[in-house]
Amino acid sequence: MTQTAPADFVFFHSSRRVVCAWNGLERLGALAEEHGCRRPALLVDAFFAGGDIAARAASVLAKATGTASPVIPVPAHEPDTDSIAKAAEALASAKPDLIVAIGGGSTMDTAKVARMLLSNPGTVEAISGFGKKLAPHASLFVCVPTTAGTGSEVSESAIASKSGSDVKLIFRSQEMTPQIALLDASLTVSCPAKVTAQSGYDALTHAVEAYISKMSGVMTDPFAVESMRLLAGSLVRAYREPQDREARTWCLVASCQAAIAFNSANLGLAHAFAAPLGALHHVAHGLGNALALPVVTAFNQPALGRKGETIAAIFGTRDAATAMSKVRHALDLDLSVDLYVPDGDAREKVAQAASRSGQVRMNPRLADIDDLRAMLEAMRKPTGGETPAFVR
Ligand SMILES: [Fe+2]
Repeated sequence: MTQTAPADFVFFHSSRRVVCAWNGLERLGALAEEHGCRRPALLVDAFFAGGDIAARAASVLAKATGTASPVIPVPAHEPDTDSIAKAAEALASAKPDLIVAIGGGSTMDTAKVARMLLSNPGTVEAISGFGKKLAPHASLFVCVPTTAGTGSEVSESAIASKSGSDVKLIFRSQEMTPQIALLDASLTVSCPAKVTAQSGYDALTHAVEAYISKMSGVMTDPFAVESMRLLAGSLVRAYREPQDREARTWCLVASCQAAIAFNSANLGLAHAFAAPLGALHHVAHGLGNALALPVVTAFNQPALGRKGETIAAIFGTRDAATAMSKVRHALDLDLSVDLYVPDGDAREKVAQAASRSGQVRMNPRLADIDDLRAMLEAMRKPTGGETPAFVR
């Protein structure tokens, strides 16, 4: 068989560690001992801060290090410059040599940026942006996701808003990547059904957008394809049967794989829409992707080629857009964008903001402002799980 040479590529890999184990939280002690850590600090989603998960983690760490960890609660809302500065202050007074973040994307992103402030003192905004040379922090950094969605536990980026504004700040540095991602699916069984659906659809959007991105390639495609395959078999199951250990584990593995893919391949138009829907209209991130992805995929379809067939085959549908529509419907996320943005002028602002996103350039089919307006218009109609009626 003859093979053509791969296209030129740049693939970011961290040579770091992913540990996947049911009740893996108990392994924090061994990890602390292995690295000789003495001063642990826990950042925990405020939802869990006074509960069993935080207490178990603190107890395991205290046994291993001989020191009681401060438990720093992180607000459940998306991180902003104020909440990050507050977390950084609490971390600084603990002088930690081990930082463990337990929670969803908001908690992990807060921990990533707050930790960087320890070695790069100043304002939160000063360390935002791409390609900043950030000084490393010497602590061991462990992220423990409690939702299967953002994949923040293996990515080198974080997102926060500027407090009191709609401005989103993006942080990206290899120094931010956690050294250890600890995947303990037992922590996700108590996740409310709505959060399972929204965060799972975010993971699905990561996998699909990374797979079809202009930056995708031989190193990222295997992660993206396997992530879609696992989500096709487990996401709706985890939503309908929250206690299903297998489904929960596969969703967590899939969200991690999707993030490894998008860390190099980047994302596309659904994320370009989700950002202003979140910033301007407080639409939860995964829901914003769900509002957008079926129509976005219908728009992209002419540019997908064999990859479109691969996606359809994984989900057993006639085409890729129908697959995204079907999963969205099964997760009860088949909603009209009008529920959140009923006003035409406000939708125009969303289209304008989406057009300024860097993700437009990564999307397989170039979209101009009229295309974006047409997609937003189409998002006003739920699809009932069928093929989106959108041709452009
Ligand atoms: Fe996302």
